[in-house]
Amino acid sequence: MQRLFTGLQPSGTLHIGNYLGALKQTVELLKDADGLVMIADYHALTTLKDPEGLRTNIANVVRDYVAVGVDPKKTIIFQQSSVLQHTELAWIFDCLVTVPFLMQAHAYKDKVAKGLDANAGLFTYPMLMAADILLYDTDVVPVGADQKQHVEYTREAATKFNLAFGETFKAPQEKILDAVAVVPGTDGKKMSKSYGNTIPLFGSKDEIQKAVMSIVTDSSGESPENVYNIHRLFRSGDSLVNLYKENRGKYKALKDALVEDIETVIGPMRERRASITDADVKAILKDGGDRAREQAEKKMIDVRRKVGVTI
Ligand code: TYM
Repeated sequence: MQRLFTGLQPSGTLHIGNYLGALKQTVELLKDADGLVMIADYHALTTLKDPEGLRTNIANVVRDYVAVGVDPKKTIIFQQSSVLQHTELAWIFDCLVTVPFLMQAHAYKDKVAKGLDANAGLFTYPMLMAADILLYDTDVVPVGADQKQHVEYTREAATKFNLAFGETFKAPQEKILDAVAVVPGTDGKKMSKSYGNTIPLFGSKDEIQKAVMSIVTDSSGESPENVYNIHRLFRSGDSLVNLYKENRGKYKALKDALVEDIETVIGPMRERRASITDADVKAILKDGGDRAREQAEKKMIDVRRKVGVTI
C-alpha cells in the first residue's frame, strides 16, 4: 500500500483553492493509501504571531479535514508541533544544505518580495517540510502546484542525507492535478490568503455569495472569464457550456449559478463540519499525535545513530 502524506498551514480559514488543489485529491487517494495529514502549525508560526488565532485555526483545520472526508480512525490527523521529531530532523537537514540552495526557494523569494519579514524560519521552511515528509517513508504528496519545489527540495534533502550517512530516506513524489494545480481567485490570479482574493471553503452561504459577487469581470466580454475559470471546477461538460451560452452577457445570473454550484458541493460538508465538537477535535489530535510520534521516533532512532549523536 502506498504511503500518503500531506499538510496545511493553520494560518487562516481554508479556501476553495486548498480544497480543490489538495484536499479533494487527498481524500480520493486515501481510499487506497495509508496516510497522514498534518496541521503545519510550526510552519504557520513563520508568519502568524497571534496565539489565540493560531489555536482557533488549528482546531478549525481538524474540523475541515474531517468535514471533507478524511476519516481520523483510518488516517492519522496530527499537529506538527506535537511530534518534536519534525523540528529535530529539520535541524539535521539544515546542517546538510547550503544557504545558496535555500535562497533559490520560490516561496521564500515571493514572500520577501511581498515585504514579509524574512525571519530565519521562513528561510529554512523547506527543510522542516522535508522532515515532515521523510520521517514517514512517504511515497506520495498530494499538493497544489505552489508546493512542487518544496517536494523537490525534500528529495534533495533525502539524497544529501543518504549520501552522507547511508540509505535512510525514500524519495517521495508530489501529486499535482493539472486542472486544479493553480485554482484562480476572484481577481484571476492564484487564489491565496495573502492576495485577499479567496472564496472561503466553509464560509456561510452569504460569505460565499459576497466573495463570488466580487469576482472581477471584464465589462467588454460576453463570457466573464474569471467566473468561468472557477465555475469549470464545479460543473463540467455540456451543462457548463449551455449555461454560459444561455446567459451570454448576464454576469449576475452566472455568478448566482456559481454560488449555487459551490453550495451543492460544500453544503453537505458544512453540515458534517458543524457536528464535530471541541472534544472530538481534542481526541483526534491526541490520538493522531500519539500514532505519528511512534512512527517518527522509530525513524529518528536510526537517524540519530547514523549521524553519530547516539553513543
Ligand atoms: P498551504 O497551507 O499554503 O496550502 C495547503 C494546500 O493547498 C494548496 N493550494 C492550492 N492549490 C491550488 N490552487 C490554489 N490557489 C492553492 N492555494 C493553496 C497548496 O498547494 C497546498 O497543497 N508548505 C505547505 C504545508 C506543508 C506541507 C507539508 C504540505 C507543510 N508540510 C508536507 C505537504 C507535505 C503549505 O504552506 O501549504
